[in-house]
Amino acid sequence: MKTVQDYIRTIPDFPHEGIMFRDVTTLFADPRGFRLAIDQLLHPYVGQQIDKVVGLEARGFILGGAIAHQLSVGFVPIRKAGKLPGKVISQAYTLEYGEAVMEIHDDAVQPGEKILVVDDLLATGGTAAAGIQLLEQLGADILSCAFVIDLPELGGRKKLEAMGMDVSVLCE
Ligand code: PRP
Ligand code: ADE
Repeated sequence: MKTVQDYIRTIPDFPHEGIMFRDVTTLFADPRGFRLAIDQLLHPYVGQQIDKVVGLEARGFILGGAIAHQLSVGFVPIRKAGKLPGKVISQAYTLEYGEAVMEIHDDAVQPGEKILVVDDLLATGGTAAAGIQLLEQLGADILSCAFVIDLPELGGRKKLEAMGMDVSVLCE
């Protein structure tokens, strides 16, 4: 039987020379692969109280939306700067191949709400750390951060764990 990893392809030199880009579009496009990924991401949290799923732009929206639907909870996007229409709070960050700013609506999460953060991939952890900082500013209680892929050589998991986060990943 195929594993989640079997559905993911690696494309060299995208978006810059030297980056081995993990492409999850092939995982998302396959009905068995997509269901397997959603089921495995959800598995550790079955029976736990989760109030909202937060997805990190852009691939975290695809996974996070499906997980929120399965859990019958709401979904909240954390977006790149300038995309959200309401009042936002912002956080700058660096990632494996650049710099950016992430934003969340300032009323998207209430203090004390239990949050599951979802994205496709953990590299340096810059993106997820920015998301965590935004959620902590809003008083959220982050239950865990779930990713399909971890690139351990880039140190993202250690960075998030040093922030006190529980981290779950499906493959490296
Ligand atoms: C990718 C990936 C993560 C992030 C991980 O997103 O989906 O969000 O990089 O890298 P990091 O751990 O070093 O921060 P990207 O910034 O390419 O944005 P996109 O999903 O909008 O294309
Ligand atoms: N985000 C940061 N590094 C990445 C990589 N190597 N593949 C896909 N997304 C990424």
